[in-house]
Amino acid sequence: MRPPTMDFALSDEQRLIRDTARDFARAEILPKAAELDKTGRWPSEIIEKMSALGFMGMAVPSEHGGAGLDALSYALAMEEISAACASCGVIMSVNNSLFCDPLLKFGTDAQKRDVLAPSARGEMLGCFGLTEPMSGSDAQTMVTSAEKKGDRWILNGAKNWITNGPHADHILVFAVSDRAGPRVKHTAFLVAKGTPGFTQNARDHKLGIHAAHSCTVFFEACEVPETAVVGNVGEGFKVAMATLDGGRIGIASQALGIAKAALETSIAYAKDRKSFGVPISQHQAIQFMLSDMATELDAARLLTWRAATMKDRGVRHSMESAEAKLYASEMCTRVAHKAIQIHGGYGYSTEFPVERHYRDARITEIYEGTSEIQRIVIAASLLRG
Ligand code: CAA
Repeated sequence: MRPPTMDFALSDEQRLIRDTARDFARAEILPKAAELDKTGRWPSEIIEKMSALGFMGMAVPSEHGGAGLDALSYALAMEEISAACASCGVIMSVNNSLFCDPLLKFGTDAQKRDVLAPSARGEMLGCFGLTEPMSGSDAQTMVTSAEKKGDRWILNGAKNWITNGPHADHILVFAVSDRAGPRVKHTAFLVAKGTPGFTQNARDHKLGIHAAHSCTVFFEACEVPETAVVGNVGEGFKVAMATLDGGRIGIASQALGIAKAALETSIAYAKDRKSFGVPISQHQAIQFMLSDMATELDAARLLTWRAATMKDRGVRHSMESAEAKLYASEMCTRVAHKAIQIHGGYGYSTEFPVERHYRDARITEIYEGTSEIQRIVIAASLLRG
């Protein structure tokens, strides 16, 4: 197996990005987080400000409209934004990891000029269409089809749980383009909102991340030109899988942010709240919980930074991203669970943010591959040798 290598010191630039993201998140996002959760309002004004800071296309080179930073800087910013509001975190993550990143890697010059650049600047928003009503974990079994007619492709099918779907200007969508051989082949397409035959349902109602809207989208005899193909015809599944290797770093970072917020709130509460004549922070039962929360959070952060560092080095990181996402997401649920326990009855009420962290944490174990899928990816890498 490859020896894990990484440098633990952040560069001056990476620290600056992290501090900028933290200051922005605390000043501009945190005061609105409870309201966004309660109302499920789409946070347009926050997305605009994140765009101005370069957060919507962080690892896209500047010649393609992005901030030209590395994947580790992106992970650092994602953690800070998600600590304030997990909904804002995933809106940012989908545009960065699941839309801009594959366009940068697989897009044509025209797609980079016309779609990647404005999306990386945050003037446009993207989403990623892989999941279907009957095909989530087993992504290859999708039924959405792409049929070639002359120089046009005709798309038919539905995709669901599409984060950013109700607001996105474009979708990167995956469809079966060839059923002739022993294995079906898939192709990726870039489809603009407003293309005849491409429609969006109303937003979904979910347990958490209320302000990050998702929806089902439909393709009904939706005709796109050959120039809509992203990557090579028949190689769409690999585009999807390689994209998720990066996306899982974003979701691991989101989980770090939620867990960090739950831990910080718990420390402050434990110092303030008294029982048996002393602040509860003086009880070993509380100290042990805080210690476990901090240790697990640090462990998850190291896994996430390692995956991001490997992405920056251009090394395949499927296993490392899966480990980071698996551990960080399950850690996040455990930490949020303990945060509620430390807060007692107040933790169960909407007066404190930890109940929101608990609800938001849960999705990190599901989207961009469930924990079970991460274990499959890890096992496949281990057994390949
Ligand atoms: N990079 C490049 N190629 C890859 C790859 C990767 N990381 N992983 C697999 N491939 C290639 C394989 O090499 C193989 O190529 P060949 O056909 O040439 O051999 C091909 O892709 C098929 O690979 P597998 O045989 O491993 O595929 P599989 O059918 O067994 O499935 C899986 C693998 C890991 C289970 C995959 O289906 C998977 O990741 N499922 C989960 C899907 C998922 O994460 N969905 C999330 C949706 S997005 C989302 O959630 C967005 C949001 O809302 C925020």
